[in-house]
Amino acid sequence: MARAIVITSGKGGVGKTTSAINLGAALNKFGEDVLVIDANVTTPNVGINLGAPNVPVSLHHVLSGKAKTHEAVYEHDSGMKVMPGSISPQHMKNMKYEKFDELVKQAKRLADFIIVDCAAGLGREANMAISAADEILIITQPEIAALTDALKAIKLAESMDKKVLGAVLTRVRNKKYELKKENVEEMLDIPVISIIPEDDSVQEALRIKDAVLHTHPRSKAAKGYKELASYLTGERIKEKENWVISLLKNIGFIKKTEGF
Ligand SMILES: Nc1ncnc2c1ncn2[C@@H]1O[C@H](COP(=O)(O)OP(=O)(O)O)[C@@H](O)[C@H]1O
Ligand SMILES: [Mg+2]
Repeated sequence: MARAIVITSGKGGVGKTTSAINLGAALNKFGEDVLVIDANVTTPNVGINLGAPNVPVSLHHVLSGKAKTHEAVYEHDSGMKVMPGSISPQHMKNMKYEKFDELVKQAKRLADFIIVDCAAGLGREANMAISAADEILIITQPEIAALTDALKAIKLAESMDKKVLGAVLTRVRNKKYELKKENVEEMLDIPVISIIPEDDSVQEALRIKDAVLHTHPRSKAAKGYKELASYLTGERIKEKENWVISLLKNIGFIKKTEGF
């Protein structure tokens, strides 16, 4: 059964789009069939961040009834599927937000994980995305304004009977002024399931227009997103084991047999 996971926060600029793209990339790396949907009707940027700012058929075409869901799905070089939004203001007219539920239902036939990048705020766009969710991931930074908005997002999701998986703490610098994981858990009353450090590789990936998981696979941020993906799939990260196996193989501890 495919899972639709909506990435939301309340506050803007906390790392939702970065998290949606990189969680998608990490799940894809683990062999999962993933579709990342940009559910930002007014300010979409999944396509921009992945180097495809202007696609011929987008989320907007599906929501205005001009295209079918599968026609707005594109495959990234990595194999991850993506449904970008349109950046053209004229495409923002005649959006039928109520079509989004059906869009996600159909998307579930195209992939096993549907990762939805939600708009900031708790207005119409966020409601549209949350209402189509099976599960919700809350993205927040360890500071009070982001947490206040995250709390509102949790309440909204709960009022819609949605399962909140937990929080992802992003851009963590380990400074004294930042709230600690325990404070965040106490305040939000949900577990912090992943911590993504502040990492220049994320900005560098944005410049290159790809997921940090692809441009800097060994960076701290990429590692954080892989841990988040493995939490969601219940899988362990096998990379470290593979690294040890290949080291042992190279120094002759393991015979070079097929399968290694
Ligand atoms: N872990 C990180 N380290 C450094 N910069 C980050 C990190 N996560 C996000 N950013 C940057 O923060 C800004 C906002 O991130 P974005 O994902 O667009 O947030 P949102 O979608 O919530 O508005 C972007 O410039 C992004 O590159
Ligand atoms: Mg965003």
